[in-house]
Amino acid sequence: MNRIVNARLRDREGLFTLRWEAGLITAIEPQVDTGPASGPTSRPVDGAASATVSAAAADTAAETIDAAGNLVVPPLVEPHIHLDATLTAGEPRWNLSGTLFEGIACWAERKARVTAQDTKARAHETIRMLAAHGIQHVRTHVDVTEPGLGTLQAMLEVREEARPLVDLQVVAFPQEGIESYPDGRRLMIEAVEMGVDGVGGIPHFENTRDQGVSSVHFLMDLAVRHDRLVDVHCDETDDPHSRFLEVLAEATRVQGMGSRVTASHTTAMGSYDNAYCSKLFRLLKQAGLSFISCPTESIHLQGRFDTYPKRRGLTRVAELDQAGLNVCFAQDSIVDPWYPLGNGNILRILDAGLHICHMLGYEDLQRALDFVTDHSARALALGEGYGIEVGRPANLVVRSADSDYEVLRSQGGAQVSIRHGRVLMRKTLPEICWQDGRDARMPSPDAQGGRG
Ligand code: FE2
Repeated sequence: MNRIVNARLRDREGLFTLRWEAGLITAIEPQVDTGPASGPTSRPVDGAASATVSAAAADTAAETIDAAGNLVVPPLVEPHIHLDATLTAGEPRWNLSGTLFEGIACWAERKARVTAQDTKARAHETIRMLAAHGIQHVRTHVDVTEPGLGTLQAMLEVREEARPLVDLQVVAFPQEGIESYPDGRRLMIEAVEMGVDGVGGIPHFENTRDQGVSSVHFLMDLAVRHDRLVDVHCDETDDPHSRFLEVLAEATRVQGMGSRVTASHTTAMGSYDNAYCSKLFRLLKQAGLSFISCPTESIHLQGRFDTYPKRRGLTRVAELDQAGLNVCFAQDSIVDPWYPLGNGNILRILDAGLHICHMLGYEDLQRALDFVTDHSARALALGEGYGIEVGRPANLVVRSADSDYEVLRSQGGAQVSIRHGRVLMRKTLPEICWQDGRDARMPSPDAQGGRG
């Protein structure tokens, strides 16, 4: 029997002991008050208490992990990334303007050199970066506008090889269109037959409005026939006339697909007028689809045709959330021709997203992690494979802070990550000796400061 003691849980008062056996959570037990040692108010002023693991090896039969009053959460989720393009920025040249279009040109040059080995090596390296930040569930889009689908085959192999670190969903993404690209429909069908988890699309990029509409109907029918999830790059533009979300939402409503369908980006919604949005939101609520926003990518790539005032180029995250729709945040890119930064830490994206979307009000701060945990899990249809409940997989992450607010504020990193009941990764806080003789424990990059 393994356990975590002194765990703080989201939305629950007090401290808990979590137990698991054979990879499943077996008990969540409230603890009797153990005094000041574990409470957040007793923390060192300049550093969060560090979780400790007793028993020697990561895979020994019985371990006790002391969370020291810190938050224990289910793994964070990365619901939208392009693992086939990550870690390629600067190859063969840098995107000097930083625009979407120069990014496409850079990628065309890099894509000519892509091999299966190259794809797999970069994907595995990126997955390890994600896992180091406590992420265990990932959805990647893979470009299937490629004769032969070699990159997709490589990513399906990565999906199996990476299982010790993450559960990976692979979505067939037609980067250059379904209707506008030669054999686009056939490639999508082949991708589904090869075993992708989800069907994608890019209707705003098709040559005509009609092609965009027909591409949505095609991909939805394909997903229904093969019982796959759907995740469409939808209206990723500042063009207020790009209105394929209504087509996707109506198809979702008619097919009864609900939360199995996700609309990614929908940045045009940031440019829709309020009268149209009022009508649109009625349909979105009837359809019940999910939304993914990629705030760092969108603030960087959108608004490029504006002078001033300059649009933020994001979808209406706060309004979707207030309407009861499921919305979450994602990284989209890590060090690729479209976005040169990123390190796998989705808390950085959460921080940026809440700023950009005017979501730093008190209530927002108390539930900030919803947008990188439960909401994302719903978008990925993880169901009972996710969450801290008895009978569910013992996938647990000890953060280096004690609340949503503190995790967000201090970028509270993953101290211990447990996957299927085994310690996958642990991190210790670094120490710095202050010359003025202050406490030796230094706020780490993961835990800058406690309450004081
Ligand atoms: Fe994307």
